[in-house]
Amino acid sequence: MIRSPAPFSLTAMTVFAALWFLLHPSSAQLSPSFYATTCPNVSSITQTVIQQALQSDPRITASLTRLHFHDCFVDGCDGSLLLDDSATFKSEKDAAPNLNSTRGFDVVDNIKAAIESSCPGTVSCADILALAAQASVFLSGGPYWTVLLGRRDSLTANQAGANTLIPSPFDPLANLIAKFSAVGLDTTDLVTLAGAHTFGRAQCKTFSPRLYNFTANGGPDSTISPSYLYSLQQLCPQNGDGTVLANLDPVTPNTFDNKYYANLQNNQGLLLSDQELYSTASAATISIVNSFSGNQSAFFQSFARSMINMGNITPLTGSNGEIRSNCRKVNGS
Ligand code: HEM
Ligand SMILES: *[C@@H]1O[C@H](CO)[C@@H](O)[C@H](O)[C@H]1NC(C)=O
Ligand SMILES: *[C@@H]1O[C@H](CO)[C@@H](O)[C@H](O)[C@H]1NC(C)=O
Ligand SMILES: *[C@@H]1O[C@H](CO)[C@@H](O)[C@H](O)[C@H]1NC(C)=O
Ligand SMILES: *[C@@H]1O[C@H](CO)[C@@H](O)[C@H](O)[C@H]1NC(C)=O
Repeated sequence: MIRSPAPFSLTAMTVFAALWFLLHPSSAQLSPSFYATTCPNVSSITQTVIQQALQSDPRITASLTRLHFHDCFVDGCDGSLLLDDSATFKSEKDAAPNLNSTRGFDVVDNIKAAIESSCPGTVSCADILALAAQASVFLSGGPYWTVLLGRRDSLTANQAGANTLIPSPFDPLANLIAKFSAVGLDTTDLVTLAGAHTFGRAQCKTFSPRLYNFTANGGPDSTISPSYLYSLQQLCPQNGDGTVLANLDPVTPNTFDNKYYANLQNNQGLLLSDQELYSTASAATISIVNSFSGNQSAFFQSFARSMINMGNITPLTGSNGEIRSNCRKVNGS
């Protein structure tokens, strides 16, 4: 006689499954209190180092905010952007969107050193980028939010990924939406996070094609206001030095506020990828621009939410990856 094993097995399996999910959360969960006992001062240490850097570099908060974005869009928020070239991989720093463009790596090293001296071997470089972005936005006048923590650092970099996954300033709106969607971010996240262009700089080469011979008729991009076009042409002459810097927000260049959205309404978006959020006929992004332009608190609330969404992109957690001791190198290499 063979007794049916089903009732006992089902119970056992349910118990086993419940235990399994308790011990191995299926979706990686970050937590605001991850370092509460192991490195309680991690936020204030980060903020102090950035405040020091701000004394001599008013752009540093923008540059640090951008690093978190460029890290998260390539294989998740895993500190892969911070790795220098090694014998086994090529650095993301030399990918087209980053080369001669991303900056602030020395300040990340300083934050890491300050944290290591308080809590050695505890805080990941990926988490430092998330903390630095939050402190940078806050120190520039933007919103505060509670950063979720517990990311671990990658063992490799993905230069090819950095070349294809990070949006280009010349991408049509549909491509921007697709690149955000590919990492689980929606159109509201796109319009919200693009509002980070409320501070920082861009080099002439990232927008100068718009200023000359851009349309089929050989004229400049018609979505640039005449006075703004004139000032940008003065700054960036045709065939001039493509590395000259322009403010992404011509109105309040170093302040984190909602002026970016009013700029778009006034045809003063610097990058094509900025202006097309407002100027693409009947796009879903237009009403979001209008709402943030009219209500800074709505923008700030949405920015906090979207930064958390971006910070949640496929982190390494648990025993995956490692806590690097030097953000530029995989441990033991
Ligand atoms: C929507 C797609 C995006 C595109 C196409 C884009 C493109 C660019 C480009 C071309 C620059 C100038 C780089 C240079 O000239 O060296 C720039 C700068 C910047 N980006 Fe974006 N970006 C996008 C989204 C974001 C997001 C999501 C964030 C952060 C949440 C961000 C934060 C910044 C900041 C703060 C700067 C100024 C950096 C500095 O001054 O060092 N961007 N971006
Ligand atoms: C934590 O930070 C606070 C404020 O910055 C400081 O007063 C305190 O001494 C720090 N504590 C430790 C253990 O580093
Ligand atoms: C990057 O900057 C270095 C030094 O300023 C320069 O020699 C190099 O040509 C630049 N590369 C690109 C791709 O602009
Ligand atoms: C403008 O661009 C068109 C198409 O790329 C090109 O044929 C033409 O020579 C350009 N004109 C000038 C003045 O650069
Ligand atoms: C602005 O946005 C905030 C946050 O979403 C909301 O509570 C408030 O009612 C809005 N204010 C106006 C005038 O619409």
